[in-house]
Amino acid sequence: MVNSKPKVTLSAAITLDGKIGQKNNHIVLSSKSDKIRVHKLRAKSDAILVGKNTVQQDDPLLTVRYTKGKNPIRIILDSHGKIQNNSRIIKSCKRISTIIVVSEVISKSNLNRLQKLPIDVIICGKNQVNITKLLSILSKKGIKTVLLEGGGTLNRSFLNKNLIDEMIIALTPYILGSKNTIDLFEGVSFPELKTKLPLKLKNVQKTGNEIILNYKF
Ligand SMILES: NC(=O)c1ccc[n+]([C@@H]2O[C@H](COP(=O)([O-])OP(=O)(O)OC[C@H]3O[C@@H](n4cnc5c(N)ncnc54)[C@H](OP(=O)(O)O)[C@@H]3O)[C@@H](O)[C@H]2O)c1
Repeated sequence: MVNSKPKVTLSAAITLDGKIGQKNNHIVLSSKSDKIRVHKLRAKSDAILVGKNTVQQDDPLLTVRYTKGKNPIRIILDSHGKIQNNSRIIKSCKRISTIIVVSEVISKSNLNRLQKLPIDVIICGKNQVNITKLLSILSKKGIKTVLLEGGGTLNRSFLNKNLIDEMIIALTPYILGSKNTIDLFEGVSFPELKTKLPLKLKNVQKTGNEIILNYKF
């Protein structure tokens, strides 16, 4: 029987004050050894999934480069289909499988532009991408494991819908403060501690100046 949803593992590097980035500024929190660890995780995943802002701001490749292994399918959630043709994702889409997920709000011209590219375009959801439906579509495509690599807005959507199975968080030796920063989970604070919490701490690993925390829901 086909599972109704792939296993979702959230992977992020956070500062000591729980931030994953700065608004409108690309910063790198991971050390070289942490990048190797994350790329090993990528190589073990069927797909890697990020939000539109992460692509806009960081222009990532989302490939396996710091270790040997296969590239996961890259999945970008971009309701309006605004990803730029000169982004590294689009420039490399001939050789690396890429799915752009848009919603019904996409303009005809953006849809036409994307459909001319060697990528898979999935229309899913009315305004924003419907992530529950998307996971079921991905499952039917044979995708069993998804590495969720943020950013904070997308992480929050997955948390709100209880779609995260596991979190692997690298605690890095930086502090960013609260203004113009991005939290691991963006959005209003919960009125009370979520009923699904506390999570179960399954593993702790110290590497150099970083601590890797592995929590299961
Ligand atoms: N340290 C780390 O590990 C790490 C990892 C990744 C990113 N980051 C940082 O995170 C920051 C970006 O995070 P962000 O919170 O601004 O944006 P984000 O989560 O990367 O992207 C959010 C966007 O994705 C689109 N989206 C489509 N469907 C969605 C859905 N169902 N739920 C949520 N979003 C959906 C929305 O734009 P549309 O409505 O236009 O579709 C939304 O505004 C950057 O600073 C980046 O450097 C850090």
